[in-house]
Formats: sequence, structure tokens, C-alpha cells
Amino acid sequence: MASVELRNIAKSFGSVEAVRDVSLSIGDGELVVFLGPSGCGKSTLLRMVAGLEEITSGDLLIGGQRMNEVAAADRGIAMVFQSYALYPHMTVAENMGFALKMLGKPRAETERKVAEAAAILQIEELLGRKPKELSGGQRQRVAIGRAIVREPEVFLFDEPLSNLDAGLRAQMRVEIARLHERLGTTMIYVTHDQVEAMTLADRIVILNKGRIEQQGSPLDLYEKPVNRFVGGFLGQPQMNFIPAQLVSSGGATELAVGVPARRVLQFANVVAAAGGTIVELGVRPDSISIVDPMLETALPAHVVVVEHLGGSSLLYVQVDGLEELVTVELRGKTAFARHETVGLRFDPQRVHLFDGGGKQIESRAAEE
Ligand SMILES: Nc1ncnc2c1ncn2[C@@H]1O[C@H](COP(=O)(O)OP(=O)(O)OP(=O)(O)O)[C@@H](O)[C@H]1O
Ligand SMILES: [Mg+2]
Repeated sequence: MASVELRNIAKSFGSVEAVRDVSLSIGDGELVVFLGPSGCGKSTLLRMVAGLEEITSGDLLIGGQRMNEVAAADRGIAMVFQSYALYPHMTVAENMGFALKMLGKPRAETERKVAEAAAILQIEELLGRKPKELSGGQRQRVAIGRAIVREPEVFLFDEPLSNLDAGLRAQMRVEIARLHERLGTTMIYVTHDQVEAMTLADRIVILNKGRIEQQGSPLDLYEKPVNRFVGGFLGQPQMNFIPAQLVSSGGATELAVGVPARRVLQFANVVAAAGGTIVELGVRPDSISIVDPMLETALPAHVVVVEHLGGSSLLYVQVDGLEELVTVELRGKTAFARHETVGLRFDPQRVHLFDGGGKQIESRAAEE
């Protein structure tokens, strides 16, 4: 097991800056997820750790040793890719043991390690089969097994589950979490699936355009996004972003939304950004409740679409003066119907304010 440290790592492909100045310390035994949209540099960053991509500038340390110029095979890492890349003419056991055979390890040792890995992954009965005789999920297990037998210091995963259907993906996600618990090995896991990131990670690193936007525990990022990008990227259904205006009123600051404007929230302190008083209210669908639209602090809205999901319901509502529909998530079934007028109430403890540049504005709800 080993720690991994990235110091001011950058990568350019000609004029394309894929990774810019990324610094990050990954603790021994930690499971860190790189999360971000397509093209943000996740794979490039991982491939630099693996030694599959040259580092343009910065330092990479694994277990305290500088690794920039060390060959991939000598870094003590094992990587699992999205494409399983199994040898089609070899059996499962041969695929899993191949790296050890190449290293000239004794056959008995290789067989023992393959058997151990197969037991962990519950694929013992598949050891004699060829890859073409396996399902997608089974192939992915073999690919993980091939990494396990090498007993790496660090596991690297690049979207290992994205070729699987939703059910199998959820199942394999749990297995990877259990594998991490059992082996205790440092893991870096790349995905663009925020649910995978939220459920697996000790720590999530959110990347955007080659830079780190924010890093922290899943719940920390979910509850305290430093900017609009992070707020919008984590959470399903997505956070609502509602144009709003800060208005001072006595000692407090109020937030006005819609046309005609309603003062829907009161803040005890708002460190107003240089951008001025026009802000965006970030509020997750489950932080909005439905109240009497005649209430003074309620924001009236019309129900446009109702989705019944069984355990919960989603209302898509139109607020006068706002372009985009607001999504509201309610527990259980809902009796609200299309065209009905409802009142929205935003949970003052769970709203976020963003300035014109998308940065989070410090705010604290007024006592009610
Ligand atoms: N070999 C290459 N030559 C030129 N540009 C590249 C090369 N590899 C990656 N890039 C560019 O670097 C950027 C980051 O790519 P990368 O593959 O790391 O993204 P990613 O976050 O893994 O995306 P995805 O989720 O789609 O896999 C992209 O703009 C990509 O086009
Ligand atoms: Mg990628």
C-alpha cells in the first residue's frame, strides 16, 4: 500500500491543456474518486499516475518516491480499464495469471494467487472458460482479478463499470467497495457518474477543464459546494438555479424571486460579492416544500408536469417571471395535479447563493 502525491501536475497535448496545475495528496489506503464531465482530464490524470502518459510538468510521488521517469511496470500499480482488454485465446485463469507468469513467478505461487483472487470475486467456477463465454459483468470481474493477483500498492480504475447495465453496475459498485474494505489498498477511481462517486468515495475530487474545482467527502461536497459547477454536478435530480436579487431590509438581507418579486428568504448575514445584488439561488429539489401559495413568504407556482416515481414524486413547476421550470421532490405519492397553483417554500438551512461568476456567497439564514 502506498500514498500518492501529485504536485502541480500539468499535461499538454500540443496546444491542448488537458490537465492544469493539479495538486493532491492521497493517503495510504484511501479510495479517491476523480469525478467530472467528459473531457475534463480524468483519464489523462490517471494515466499519468499509471505511467501510460508522460507528465508535462510537476511531480508524481508514490509511496514517497518520485515516479515521473519510472516505467509503468515498476510503479507498483495495477489499472483496470473500461474495456476489459482480456486475451481472447486464454482461459480466465491464464488471463489472471499472465502478468505473474511474465514476471517469471513460480507456477504454484501464480496458481495460488489466482485462486485467492477468484475466491474474493466469486468466479472460481469460471476459471476454465474463455472470455467469449462470459457475461459483461463476469469479464469485468476477471479484469479486476487480473489486477488483484499483482498485489499492487495502488489500484487505478478508469470507468470500469460503464459498459454494464444499470443493475449490474449497482451490484459491481458494492463489490468494489467491499474489495476496498477487504484489501485496504489505495484506490483511485475515475468516473463521470456522480452516484458511483457519492457511494464509493472516501473523498471526491471534482475536475473541470483540467482543474480541481473542489475536493472533500461526498457529503461535504453535496452540502457545501464552493461553486455553481459543483452544486449542479452532484445530486440527482439536479439542483435548481433560480435568478434572484438581494435586497437589504433593516438589519437583514432578503432574497427576492419572480415577477412580481416575492421576498422568499431572509439572511442574517450575507457577505455580498463584488458582483452586486443579482445572484442565483441554488436549491436542491428535496429542499423545497409545498405550502399555501397565499402565504407571504411562499413563492406561487403552477404545476406543469407531475412524475410519480413510487417512493417519491417530482413536480415541475412554473414560477411567473422565471424562464426555467423548478423541480420539487416530494416523498411518497402526491395529490398535486397539473395546472394547480402551489406555494414553494425554500428550506433556509439548505439553500445556496451564487454570485455572477458562479462562486458561493457566504450566507446564514435569519432566525425564524
Ligand atoms: N492523445 C491525446 N491527444 C490530444 N488531446 C488529447 C489526447 N488525450 C486526451 N486529449 C484531450 O485532453 C482532454 C482530456 O481528456 P481525457 O481523456 O483525460 O478526458 P476524460 O475526463 O477522461 O473524459 P471522458 O469522461 O470522456 O473519458 C480532452 O480535451 C481530450 O480531447
Ligand atoms: Mg476518460
